[in-house]
Amino acid sequence: MKLEDVKHVGVVGGGIMGGGIAHILGAAGYRVTIRDISDQIIEDTKESIVEGKWGVKRAVERGKMGFDTANQVIELVAYTTSIQDLAGCDVIIEAVPEKLELKQEVFKELDETVKDEAIFTSNTSGLVIQEIASPLPNARKEKFLGMHFSNPVPVMSMCEVITTPESSQESVDTIVGLAKAGKRAVSLVKDTPGTYGFILNRVFAAAAREARKIVEDGIATPEDVDKAMITGRNWPAAFFGNRGGIGKEW
Ligand SMILES: NC(=O)c1ccc[n+]([C@@H]2O[C@H](COP(=O)([O-])OP(=O)(O)OC[C@H]3O[C@@H](n4cnc5c(N)ncnc54)[C@H](O)[C@@H]3O)[C@@H](O)[C@H]2O)c1
Repeated sequence: MKLEDVKHVGVVGGGIMGGGIAHILGAAGYRVTIRDISDQIIEDTKESIVEGKWGVKRAVERGKMGFDTANQVIELVAYTTSIQDLAGCDVIIEAVPEKLELKQEVFKELDETVKDEAIFTSNTSGLVIQEIASPLPNARKEKFLGMHFSNPVPVMSMCEVITTPESSQESVDTIVGLAKAGKRAVSLVKDTPGTYGFILNRVFAAAAREARKIVEDGIATPEDVDKAMITGRNWPAAFFGNRGGIGKEW
């Protein structure tokens, strides 16, 4: 699958991340179908993309997005509870909860449903991509990558693209191109069994460990550690008062 052939992206899981991913790809002109498991969740996803804190209406109000682009997102993003509606997708981005077995099950179902040429990606925060893809046939493993966005997706432009030894160069080029089309800054990362977190979450976890140790050793209070990092390094958030992007309240 080459970048110019990508027209329709399937997003599996319309939660915090799936909604944001659909938002930025719709803004980039891609047709997107979000699949979640209940009508109520799908309604909430739609509400959040249109009316939510990081939704297109507020983006227009704050001058971050043109009115036409906001309308384009509303027109291009479709919602479904049926996996069959993803059968013709060119790229799949999975954003279901961070549980290895659940992701493996979801991809097995997708493999049986979605056309063979499609590229599959997971927005896992740090699970090993080869383990997520392990139940799939070899032909699909060549078209299987990580695509790790940061929350809130419309605001944070990072996308780590995680490659495995099986990933074909064409799939890597297409997914890097898709991320860049969605205005992402792409960092390439090699999938590494035995680790968790790629670049972003490994570095953050290491810093968080050090911050906890400073507090445990009585060197500084949590408030002073946070203050030092926010005012001294310009971090938008630190370790104790604010989890730095995780959750709806960020
Ligand atoms: N929240 C973050 O800050 C963040 C940042 C980067 C990456 N991630 C990763 O993104 C993924 C999703 O996280 P989230 O925060 O959006 O979770 P979330 O709980 O907000 O959303 C997950 C959605 O997946 C749906 N779902 C569950 N099973 C499904 C299935 N079989 N088919 C379709 N949909 C299904 C749920 O109903 C829910 O709406 C996780 O792997 C997480 O680690 C999260």
